[in-house]
Parts: sequence; C-alpha cells; structure tokens
Amino acid sequence: MTSNTDCHPKMQGQSPPFLAMLRSARLVAATRAPVLIQGESGTGKELLAQFIHEQSPRHRKSFIAINCAALPEALAESELFGHAKGAFTGANTAREGRIAAAQYGTLFLDEIGEMPLTVQSKLLRFLESGECQVLGEGRSIHIDTRIIAATNRGLADLVQQGRFRNDLYYRLQVVPLEVPPLRQRSDDIEPLAQQFLQWFSRHHGVAAPQLTDPVRRMMHRWSWPGNIRELRNLCERLVILHSGSDLAIEHLPHEIRACHPTTERFPAADFPITGISLEHLERELIMKALAHAGGNRSRAARLLDLSRDTLLYRIKKHGLQTD
Ligand SMILES: Nc1ncnc2c1ncn2[C@@H]1O[C@H](COP(=O)(O)OP(=O)(O)OP(=O)(O)O)[C@@H](O)[C@H]1O
Ligand SMILES: [Mg+2]
Repeated sequence: MTSNTDCHPKMQGQSPPFLAMLRSARLVAATRAPVLIQGESGTGKELLAQFIHEQSPRHRKSFIAINCAALPEALAESELFGHAKGAFTGANTAREGRIAAAQYGTLFLDEIGEMPLTVQSKLLRFLESGECQVLGEGRSIHIDTRIIAATNRGLADLVQQGRFRNDLYYRLQVVPLEVPPLRQRSDDIEPLAQQFLQWFSRHHGVAAPQLTDPVRRMMHRWSWPGNIRELRNLCERLVILHSGSDLAIEHLPHEIRACHPTTERFPAADFPITGISLEHLERELIMKALAHAGGNRSRAARLLDLSRDTLLYRIKKHGLQTD
C-alpha cells in the first residue's frame, strides 16, 4: 500500500492486524462518516488519517491537522469555529475557523481527548448538523468537512472521569480504528526496517547498512514501546553511523541489547529440587512458541532465539509437526 509522497517513507505493512485495519480504513474513506483512530504513541495514527483522506473522494481538497493538546482553552473555540471581528477583546479582525478552512476536505483533530469540554459540545453539534457557529456571529454556516479524530489515551476512561463527553464519544465512535502496536504486528518489523534503511540511505546519500540474523532476532524480541517512530529513528541512526556495514548487535541501543527473554521469564530459582527433564521442557517450550507465533515457524524460531533450521530440526526430533 502507498502514501504517494517522496518526502517520507511510504506507509507500509503486511501483517494480518495491519491489513485488517487498512480494509476498514478503505471502506470508511469512501464515506463521510467521522472516524476515531486510537492507538499507542508512534503507531501511525496521523499517517492513517492522511491515508483515509487520500483514499477519499475529498483527496483534492485540504487535509488540515490540529493538535488539540497544543491549543490554549481560550483559543480552541475560535480556532475551530472562527470568530467575527470584535467577538472578544483582541479580535481586531474576523478569522475563519479550521472547520471552514477544510471545507469539502478533512479536518484531523489530533489528541482529541485534550479538547476542552465547552468546545466538545460545539463539535458535537457540528457533527450532528453540519452547522458551524462562528464566535460572535448570530448565524450558523453549513460546512461539509470530514472529521477524523485521534487519541493515544483511552477515551472511554476519560468519559468515565467526566473529562470527555459521552455523546461526542459515541458520535466519533461510529467507525473506530485501532492501530495495533508494533509488538503485535511483528511480521511488519523487518519490512519496515528495510524500507527505513533504504529510504534514509537515499535521503542522506550514503550506502545502506545490512540487516543480519542476530540483529533481526533482537529487533523481533524488543517490545518497541515507541512503536514505528522508534524503529524509524533507530534506522536513521544506523544509516548515519554504520552506512554500508553489516549490522551487529553492538550497533543496537543498550536497552534493546539488554532485553533477553530467557533471563526475564525463567529465573534459575525456579529450578525444581527434584530435577527436570530437559527433553520434556524443550518440547513444551517449542509447542508454546509455535502457539504464540500462530504456527509460523520463522516467528517461533525468533521467539526461541534459534535459527529456523535449528527449530525445524528440533520440531522433527520431538515429532511435533510433520507437514
Ligand atoms: N505503516 C507505516 N509505514 C511507514 N512509516 C510509518 C507507518 N506508520 C507510521 N510511520 C511513521 O512513524 C512515525 C510516527 O507516525 P505518526 O506520527 O503517524 O504516529 P502517531 O500514532 O500519530 O504518533 P503520536 O501518538 O505520537 O502522535 C512517522 O514518521 C510515520 O511516518
Ligand atoms: Mg500523532
């Protein structure tokens, strides 16, 4: 799939959770329904909002993004809805709001959870009626702007705490899209890393460094709390510091190198005093890894820090799978 711009790497992903999300995004893009995008920081919410706009019949009109967290409460309403001259002290000229500026296009409201409650009720009115009430003007104007909102905080929790309007939440929730974190779409790690390494090497005019198996395994094992942004930044750093090299574990940041699942989950103190059957334990662990990897042997091998061939040999040895 593409996001056709040369200024940024393309939007990329092949894992089942990503493709499922993209299918819904394409369907909703064709309509004018509001969309709520939820997902951890750095998962690609803004990129997805742009994708929906590009895939929509509105793609020739503006895509305007506003970060609600960066708007002071006093200005939020006029920023969105506009104001008439003299609407408040300091309003020396009339100003068009962002909803109107995105007429026939898309307005992306990032960090919607931070929107002041007073503005939330006006936004709900707009979503329900298309009427946009300019501050300091008696009349409303009708505007056709598609709203896409995003949040990395559980909006449901904010509703519970009384910080987000229930009715607005449900209005935005018509088509909720959840962008999966990178650790739940590990099939995407390597293709994304390859794309970022190639893209940044062209961008910086240097030879791309090469991924190697140990580095791939480490990348798969890491939980990527900063998601795609973290992977992208790491790749840019690897391009700059190690252009043209075969990448080694030593080139990865300390926190990624330090992450070793065996020591985390199996402290030696768990060793039973009656002893243990190593053969049996190995069989159990292989079965668990295969189940965890949805039957995908390459992924199971990475979870066990083995090469695929070694895992296949051991699967055969234990008579686990024959096909
Ligand atoms: N599927 C993808 N393919 C390629 N690049 C991606 C993809 N998803 C995200 N990125 C890149 O990762 C970075 C973070 O993406 P984006 O800003 O859209 O995330 P976000 O969810 O809005 O983050 P935040 O919650 O911090 O605002 C951007 O540089 C973006 O281009
Ligand atoms: Mg964002």
